[in-house]
Amino acid sequence: MTKLEIYSMDDELIKIIEVTKENSYNKRLRMDKTILDFLLDSEIKMPYGCMGGSCGACIVEILSGHEFIDREGSHKIVLKSIGENDALTCIATVKEFNPENIVKLKLKFKADFTIR
Ligand code: FES
Repeated sequence: MTKLEIYSMDDELIKIIEVTKENSYNKRLRMDKTILDFLLDSEIKMPYGCMGGSCGACIVEILSGHEFIDREGSHKIVLKSIGENDALTCIATVKEFNPENIVKLKLKFKADFTIR
């Protein structure tokens, strides 16, 4: 298991998503689920567009835990202008699973995460 801690633009922890090796594999598509899949499953209304690493809509900043993330997943990053600490969630996957692994991701869009 690896924990994804999701932070808002204001550095507020808004969600912790636990990813196991088993639930990271999409049997239907026969490929690893992307981080975008986990964010959307956790009801974080992520923006996205191309779903192929080229438009940049789904970008997040990796605050820590880079070593547990495969930024290119089964694709190649097409968008060349992303920073070293950024990930395109539509292609990035979790590559290492260990209960001590924590990946901190910061959203790059403003949203209201208040629970009503
Ligand atoms: S949705 Fe376009 S880069 Fe991720």
